[in-house]
Amino acid sequence: MEKTLVLIKPDAVRAGKIGEIISMFEAKKFKIDAMLMFRFTNEIVERFYAVHREKDFFPDLLKFMTSGNTIAMIVSGQNTVSRVRNLIGPTDPAECEPDTVRGRFATSVRRNAVHASDSHEHYLIEKEVIFG
Ligand code: CMP
Repeated sequence: MEKTLVLIKPDAVRAGKIGEIISMFEAKKFKIDAMLMFRFTNEIVERFYAVHREKDFFPDLLKFMTSGNTIAMIVSGQNTVSRVRNLIGPTDPAECEPDTVRGRFATSVRRNAVHASDSHEHYLIEKEVIFG
């Protein structure tokens, strides 16, 4: 069993898509091991997205992620990191297959509905930032 961390971001929470997104994970037989609704502060965004802190889009990302509630979930299953990344699709919805989470619910590269850890190492860091 491998675990990963998934966020349902403020755009998707605001649009009332929590249930449909969770259903997409359950349809693929992933298990939800933990779940939390919270609102990001600037400080938690800076810790969670530390690798993006110097990027030009970081101020936009900060504003977006603090704009409303987020759902964080720990998801488990077989090869979960890579299978969840496939299920959510690429960062930019223009590149997403229509049956991916972002293909269905993302509206831009920033407002892209969900996040998932890109490695086991990042999962451990992200889990500690949100659930630690
Ligand atoms: P995520 O997979 O959570 O990882 C970093 C986030 O930064 C990404 O999803 C987007 O929400 C956001 N992001 C990435 N690239 C850009 C960009 N070019 N402009 C604005 N936001 C971006």
